[in-house]
Amino acid sequence: MTFLFNSDAVRGAVFAKAFASELPDLPFSMDPATVDPDAVRYLITWTIPQDLARYRNLEMVFSIGAGVDQFTMTDLPDSVKVVRMVEDGIVRMMQEYATLAVLTLHRQMPAYRAQQADRLWRPLQQPQAAERRVGVLGLGVLGQAVLDRLKPFGFPLSGWSRSPRRLDGVTCHHGADGLDAMLADTDILIVLLPLTPDTRGFLDARLLAKLPRGAALVHTGRGPQLDHAALVSALDDGHLSGAVVDVTDPEPLPPDHPFWAHPKIVLTPHVASITQPDSAARAVITNLRRHFAGQDPVGLIDRRRGY
Ligand code: NAP
Ligand code: GLV
Repeated sequence: MTFLFNSDAVRGAVFAKAFASELPDLPFSMDPATVDPDAVRYLITWTIPQDLARYRNLEMVFSIGAGVDQFTMTDLPDSVKVVRMVEDGIVRMMQEYATLAVLTLHRQMPAYRAQQADRLWRPLQQPQAAERRVGVLGLGVLGQAVLDRLKPFGFPLSGWSRSPRRLDGVTCHHGADGLDAMLADTDILIVLLPLTPDTRGFLDARLLAKLPRGAALVHTGRGPQLDHAALVSALDDGHLSGAVVDVTDPEPLPPDHPFWAHPKIVLTPHVASITQPDSAARAVITNLRRHFAGQDPVGLIDRRRGY
């Protein structure tokens, strides 16, 4: 029985150390060339290796990241459990990024940057937090953690998910019916949905038009969820006031893409949240222990649903 680590060597060294200390009886390999393929029961990777079929006894595939949209599920035998990364580092970094993005938009930083470039010293009228409604699409691990972190600022908070949720201090909506109500009451919309067939292209012109005039977007889900041209046009016609975009399609964007130079867009290169090796190794070890005890791992994917 072997755990195969298929990612960068720096992270691998951290995993190897943690495994040696916490699961000394489970052989750990970082080398597909020398590993006995029949012994590989557990694999951690970002993408599915082309030669996956050689691991005939595979039981579980762990994603090195929070998303699993990079996996083509049909490449994996039905018996294989797929597990996304749920670990404290990813959660903490997404809380930081979403807070930074919300405050950037709330306190009108793009406008002040533009004024600075023009050497213009001009205070803008500043709405208070209680007047700025923040809504989150996706109330999973990250959506809930972000809402928790935003609570002390005093923004009215809401969220949307597929199934009903109850969260303290958050107005929760769900399903197609709940979406319009939430959008109409949202000034800053944060996207933390997984990429699935249902959410691909979800942030289109129709959806953006349902936000109040002057609203803003924080896109931290996946690039293909957003119609990029629709965002540019909503910003250009003044319907939206700004956007913080961390994920795009493609990544990286081509040099002539309108996002690069758009004065109302703050663009970052898919860095909102990054797996931290120490805490990720602990999370995977905990999940293996759960598996050995006959329990489902934390972050188990429903392969039919795609997340
Ligand atoms: P999660 O725990 O699986 O939560 C997903 C949430 O989305 C759930 O609340 C789910 O609803 C909701 N959802 C899924 N499909 C939906 C649909 N069709 N309609 C309405 N709601 C839907 O995922 P997570 O760990 O919070 O991560 C969310 C996503 O963040 C990841 O998949 C990834 O794309 C993105 N991410 C981005 C970065 C970055 O650096 N930019 C880093 C990490 C993650 P239910 O509650 O009803 O199931
Ligand atoms: C990053 O986007 C991740 O999925 O962890």
